[in-house]
Amino acid sequence: MRCLTRLAVAWVMGCCTLLPGQDSAANGKKLFSKYGCYECHGTQGQGTTAGARLAPKPIALPALIAYVRRPSGQMPPYTGKVVSDAELSDIRAYLASIPEPTPAKSIPLLNQ
Ligand code: HEC
Repeated sequence: MRCLTRLAVAWVMGCCTLLPGQDSAANGKKLFSKYGCYECHGTQGQGTTAGARLAPKPIALPALIAYVRRPSGQMPPYTGKVVSDAELSDIRAYLASIPEPTPAKSIPLLNQ
């Protein structure tokens, strides 16, 4: 019985280290760099003069995929042959995992 309990504990712990959200976000971070998204959108998706802000709180996945496939402005299109929907889903998970910036009000130096 004790052996079974141990097995169950090991199984549960194994599952936790493989949480899909964490895996996707880590993979998405790599892809965001691999496909050059960061060049225009910044490494944290914060936006630059060359690209819109994407994080935190990225747009919904279907809208993100639709935009990347057929951008309406300056952004170059990425077809499914270059970046798959699954990869874009991971990229979105990465963008969603980026924490909100510290509000200016909570920084004393900015409130003098
Ligand atoms: C050459 C610069 C450039 C690169 C590289 C680039 N983008 Fe963009 N992206 C833009 C610009 C500029 C916009 C703002 C709208 C426009 O002009 O198309 C934009 C807009 C977007 C939007 C829409 C944002 C919104 O709120 O509507 C998404 C989503 C997006 N990019 C995702 C990506 C992803 C994911 C990648 C990498 C696979 C990527 N972009 C690579 C320049 C770029």
